[in-house]
Amino acid sequence: MGNTLGKLFTITCFGESHGDCMAVVVDGCPAGLPLDEADIQQEADKRRPGTAGTTERREPDKVEIISGVHDGHTTGAPICMLCWNKDVDSGAYEKNRFALRPGHADYTAFTKYGGFNDFRGGGRFSGRITLAYVMAGAIARKLIGRLGIDVFAHTVEIGGIKARPQALADIKEKASQNPLWCADPEDAAKMARLIEQTKAAKDSLGGIIEGVALGVPAGLGEPVFGNFDGELAKALFAIPAVKGVAFGAGFAVANMKGSENNDLYDMQDGKIITRTNHAGGVLGGISTGMPVIVRVAVKPTASIARGQETVDIQKMARTSLSVTGRHDTCIVPRAVPVVVAMMAVTICDFALQAGLIPRVLT
Ligand SMILES: Cc1cc2nc3c(=O)[nH]c(=O)nc-3n(C[C@H](O)[C@H](O)[C@H](O)COP(=O)(O)O)c2cc1C
Repeated sequence: MGNTLGKLFTITCFGESHGDCMAVVVDGCPAGLPLDEADIQQEADKRRPGTAGTTERREPDKVEIISGVHDGHTTGAPICMLCWNKDVDSGAYEKNRFALRPGHADYTAFTKYGGFNDFRGGGRFSGRITLAYVMAGAIARKLIGRLGIDVFAHTVEIGGIKARPQALADIKEKASQNPLWCADPEDAAKMARLIEQTKAAKDSLGGIIEGVALGVPAGLGEPVFGNFDGELAKALFAIPAVKGVAFGAGFAVANMKGSENNDLYDMQDGKIITRTNHAGGVLGGISTGMPVIVRVAVKPTASIARGQETVDIQKMARTSLSVTGRHDTCIVPRAVPVVVAMMAVTICDFALQAGLIPRVLT
C-alpha cells in the first residue's frame, strides 16, 4: 500500500536500499514518446553522491529499461525501469539493528511492520528510494517539455546560510554550475565549507530547496481534493526528510496585509498575468499561469556519528548509539533533482487529466 502515485500518469516504486534493485513502473505514458536509457541516465546521474559531505556509498546507478519501450519509442505499455544495487554493506546496520536511530524511521517502521521490515540501509526508508522517483521524473519532464513546461530546482539555504536571490531567468543555468545546486557560487562555497565542518563535528545539516516550474498553463488542478498545490505537496512530502512545503510567500502570508499579499492582475502580450507572485502560481487549487514556486524544507540528516541516547527495541532498555556507516551530512543537494522529478510527475499527471497531452504522440 502507498507505493503508487498519480491518476493517469502513475508511478509505482519498489526496491530497498540493500535489496537487489531500486525500481519504478510508470503507467499511463502515451505511446510514441522518443525514449532511451540515456534520457533516464542523465537525470539519475544528477542525484548520485560524489560531492563533499555526501555518502561514501558508490553505486553505478546504471539505468535499465525493462519494458514499455520499443524501437526507441514508448509503446503505451507500462514502463519498468531499474538500477541494480551493487555497493551494499549491511554490516553497520546488523550491529545496531535494534538500537533505534533518533530522527529516522526505525521505530515507526518496526512498530508498523512488526519487525519484519528490511532494516538494512534503512530499507524502504532510505533516501535511495528517490532514485525511482528521478527515473519516473525523467519521462514526465520529457512529456511536459513538449508543452513548453520547464521544471528546475535550486538550493536556497543550508545550515542557516541563505543564498542571495537571483533573477528567475538565471537560476537554472547558475545552479547547474556547482554540485550544491546553489545559484550563487560564493554562497555555494560557504555552504560546502559548513558541510565539511559539520561532518568533522560528527553532526548534520538541513536546508531549503526551491522548485520552479515555468510555462505551466493556467487551469491545471482538480479542486477540491485534487488541488494543484495539494497534490504537489503530497508528492514532495514523499521525499524522505522533507518536513515543510510552502508555495509563493509561504508562511510569510500570515504577517502580510491583503494589500501586500494580493497579486495585482495586469495584461502582457494579450495575456492575463499578475505583477507579483505571492501565490506561487496557484489560486483556488488551480494553476494561475504564473511561475509555480514551491519551497521545501529538508531536515538535518538523522544518522549522525555523534553519540546519542536511545532505546534498544529488542531489549526494551536504554542504550546509546553513534551511527556509523555511510551517510549524507546534508541531504539538500541530493534532494534537488528529486524535487524536480516529483514536480514533473505531478504536473504531467495534471496535464494528462486536462487533455493537454494526447494518448499517441506524433
Ligand atoms: C537523497 C536522500 C538521501 C538521504 N540520505 C540519508 C542518510 O544518509 N542518512 C539518513 O539518516 N537519512 C537520509 N535521508 C533521509 C531519511 O531517509 C529520512 O529522514 C527517513 O526515512 C525518515 O523519514 P522522515 O525524515 O521523512 O520522517 C535521505 C533522504 C534523501 C531524500
